[in-house]
Amino acid sequence: MEIKKATYLISSPAVDKCPKADRPEYAFIGRSNVGKSSLINMLCNNQKLAKTSASPGKTQSINHFTIESSVREKGPVERWYLVDLPGYGYAKIDQSSRRRWEQMIEGYLRKRENLVNVFVLIDARHMPQKIDLEFVNQLGHWEVPFTIVFTKADKEKPAVVERHVKAFLDAMRETWQFLPASVVTSATKKTGKDEILTQIAGMNLG
Ligand code: GTP
Ligand code: MG
Repeated sequence: MEIKKATYLISSPAVDKCPKADRPEYAFIGRSNVGKSSLINMLCNNQKLAKTSASPGKTQSINHFTIESSVREKGPVERWYLVDLPGYGYAKIDQSSRRRWEQMIEGYLRKRENLVNVFVLIDARHMPQKIDLEFVNQLGHWEVPFTIVFTKADKEKPAVVERHVKAFLDAMRETWQFLPASVVTSATKKTGKDEILTQIAGMNLG
């Protein structure tokens, strides 16, 4: 699948302010600064689409993008929403903002009826982090389907990335009987792009 057109639509502070749920939707979430916005730009072939930043906490609300994609060159156009969510685990945030974030994200993940799949981004440079494991376990409790996306693979040697991926999946095995699909990516090298788009295409048609 190839994304033909990606346009920023709206930023919403809560699920009830989101656009009408009239097409399939895929959301990207993960720790603050993990590379969500960069990955979205890589998938959409547009470096300016989602705002990225070297300092964490850039994305603050639920950001909808309208997407037009096609599986074949002159094939039919599929229309769907892609969503950039604000990151969790940002240290320099006060209690009330954190609570607001949690409510916004929980409301969105549990109530958004057109949400097909959530891509949870994990930094491939680190050993499993408690906050990420807690987040995927929470998704499990809420029965939200998700895929694990390891990011910034270009920043480490392949063997190190492989070790971190294995460690994370092993840690998940302690609570999960079946592991979700996982993809290793690099926004700078465009690694994993086809794999993620193929997954979305499969879920869209399925
Ligand atoms: P918040 O919205 O603040 O939560 O951050 P985010 O998860 O959207 O991260 P963002 O895409 O803004 O990227 C954070 C930083 O990591 C930026 O400086 C990016 O250039 C860098 N970055 C993101 N992805 C990659 C990658 O695949 N490789 C490398 N080398 N750097 C990356
Ligand atoms: Mg962002």
